[in-house]
Amino acid sequence: MVFTSPRVGGLYFDAVRAGLERAGVTPVARHDVPDGEEHKSLEEYCRALRALLSSFPDPTRAPLVVNLGGGLLSDLGGFVAGTFRRGVPCVHVPTTLLACVDAGVGGKVAVNLGSVKNLVGLFHQPRLVFIDLATLKTLDARELRSGIAEVIKYGAVLSAPLFGRLERDLAKLLAADASLLRTVVAECCRLKARVVAADEFDRKGKRIALNFGHTLGHALEMAAEPHLTHGEAVAVGMVAAARFSARLGFCPETVVRRLRELISRAGLPVSGRGLELAPETVLRLMLHDKKAGRGKLRFVLPTRLGAWRAVEVGDQEVLREVVRYALE
Ligand SMILES: NC(=O)c1ccc[n+]([C@@H]2O[C@H](COP(=O)([O-])OP(=O)(O)OC[C@H]3O[C@@H](n4cnc5c(N)ncnc54)[C@H](O)[C@@H]3O)[C@@H](O)[C@H]2O)c1
Ligand SMILES: [Zn+2]
Repeated sequence: MVFTSPRVGGLYFDAVRAGLERAGVTPVARHDVPDGEEHKSLEEYCRALRALLSSFPDPTRAPLVVNLGGGLLSDLGGFVAGTFRRGVPCVHVPTTLLACVDAGVGGKVAVNLGSVKNLVGLFHQPRLVFIDLATLKTLDARELRSGIAEVIKYGAVLSAPLFGRLERDLAKLLAADASLLRTVVAECCRLKARVVAADEFDRKGKRIALNFGHTLGHALEMAAEPHLTHGEAVAVGMVAAARFSARLGFCPETVVRRLRELISRAGLPVSGRGLELAPETVLRLMLHDKKAGRGKLRFVLPTRLGAWRAVEVGDQEVLREVVRYALE
């Protein structure tokens, strides 16, 4: 069962079907999920489950789920695979840079509930992540930049050499230079795999590093919906988190400056100014985030490039200040 979207399926489904058929994985069925974060929903999850059941009704033969598309597909299709008959195998074929470096790897799958991101989900590791970088050629420039935001995230908190490389070679990356993409995607997958291997179920306080920029980013993404992509919201969240870190004395101002410069050179927003978001809405959405415990929120803050620490913040005034960093 190939889950895809009308756009990505139109471009690549035939090739995927031909490959599966050549390998003897038949019959091949297709179900489309419409584009847009609002469709990473329980409604679309149910539609996909029903499609899976109607194509593969035999309870003795587990279907293989192939998620062809961006992070929306790996999150939703992975969740369907993780729950259908208590779990069937899945393969991700990520076709956005963001999904290649992040969403497709690591086994977190989920859908949103209303405006709460990823509220309903589980861990379900794909059997395989099959990345064909040639698919990125049809990606919009905006979606490519959105993926670059997650690449910058890896550099900022996990790898100073990667960050330096991005500062030097950003123009090539923005031009989707094939050999650089190959190096960068492989490096990000390695970094993510290392973190996930050390803390697969997000219980040891290590996997949270991948959440840099996301505490605010998720709330901004939902508050601004549909005006910010995931990567754009994370870009704003990373700058605000770095400013917060500098304000607390955890990192020097140069970290904020270099991060802000790189993000803005990548054509990504460094603040949510102009979106006219209500600070109280962002704050409320942030407090809904599942990382909040006992009214506290956990932020990942850079301490220098390539290193991080976490802080818990419960004081509403301090949280308002962080939201202000993102909106001013
Ligand atoms: N599970 C995780 O660990 C994890 C990590 C990061 C992000 N995510 C999730 O990923 C989602 C965002 O993923 P995304 O940025 O990939 O967006 P997306 O899946 O919504 O895709 C963005 C757009 O790109 C189009 N597209 C995809 N591939 C294309 C291609 N090759 N050519 C042309 N168009 C193409 C899609 O049709 C869509 O319009 C969010 O829901 C986010 O929460 C999950
Ligand atoms: Zn992300």
